[in-house]
Amino acid sequence: MGNPLEITLGNLHLDNIFILASGILGTSPSLLARVANNGFGAVVTKSFTRKKRLGYRTPILIATKCGFINAVGLENLGADVIDEFVSEYKQKTRIPIIISIAESSLEDFVYIAKKANDAGADGIELNLSCPHAKKRGIEIGKDPKLVSKIIKRVRKNIDIPLIAKLGLCDNLLKVAKTAEESGADCLTLINTIRAMKIDVWTTRPILSNKFGGLSGPAIHPIAVRCVYEVYEKVSIPIIGCGGVESWEDVIEFLLAGASAIQIGSALVRGLEIINEIKRGIIAYLKRKGFSSVRELIGLAHKRN
Ligand SMILES: Cc1cc2nc3c(=O)[nH]c(=O)nc-3n(C[C@H](O)[C@H](O)[C@H](O)COP(=O)(O)O)c2cc1C
Repeated sequence: MGNPLEITLGNLHLDNIFILASGILGTSPSLLARVANNGFGAVVTKSFTRKKRLGYRTPILIATKCGFINAVGLENLGADVIDEFVSEYKQKTRIPIIISIAESSLEDFVYIAKKANDAGADGIELNLSCPHAKKRGIEIGKDPKLVSKIIKRVRKNIDIPLIAKLGLCDNLLKVAKTAEESGADCLTLINTIRAMKIDVWTTRPILSNKFGGLSGPAIHPIAVRCVYEVYEKVSIPIIGCGGVESWEDVIEFLLAGASAIQIGSALVRGLEIINEIKRGIIAYLKRKGFSSVRELIGLAHKRN
């Protein structure tokens, strides 16, 4: 029997469908490799910008009853460390590494993408969906014209798989179709959703940036809906992301049309969760008589 959890996304072959989401434990190559070796099919780094960024002042993360709200401010070491980052990572593991990019100008997206390509990264994920970064993320990702320009130019300059990470916005379906037509090999859906929390005692917003991105269980049904709707519009593979905590959440994403899954916030419960989820999926496949997760992709769309 073949490997029931393996998947190929365009040209990217993964031993299993689980990908570490960007910004979660992805800041140093050694930590990232350790996480990768704990059962992931691939990992995505924290989003890189061209220049080093210190991020926002604390508080940058707050727990709510249904997930986390974060506004880290894209803290990262800057694109010039990518070469060293990838090579250090690759000395420790053979699990594919995807470099995430969050920039504001076309030139800077291309600059970082080329660096990642030349460094030997296995893929690039364009963060077109951060909900709280000025002139970046969703501010770009909700505009089909900008999305098209960036993806076309980046595509021309790299030969590794290109993933567009999109987020919740009114014209998500149009943007997703545009991303496909412009040359994206794959889509990640979705990023965090703009949110806030106010301290009732100080009577002020808690995060230093006021607004942040909500992740965790609250966003899972929204992400499933996005995957389901986008699946009907595009032919490229979709990576489901948002609120996965259990094997049932994963199966739901697959049935909606996802071919792989990113996991972020749930890792606060420890890295062992990934193997727990895998065991649940294997048991489900057996019970339902499926031989691979690939048979589940988009099944919720089929008419009886
Ligand atoms: C602390 C934190 C930092 C994040 N940083 C990034 C980032 O740099 N780039 C990005 O594309 N997404 C970032 N994300 C979003 C995650 O990659 C993911 O899309 C989101 O958390 C939803 O998945 P989850 O519910 O499994 O956490 C971050 C999320 C958190 C909680």
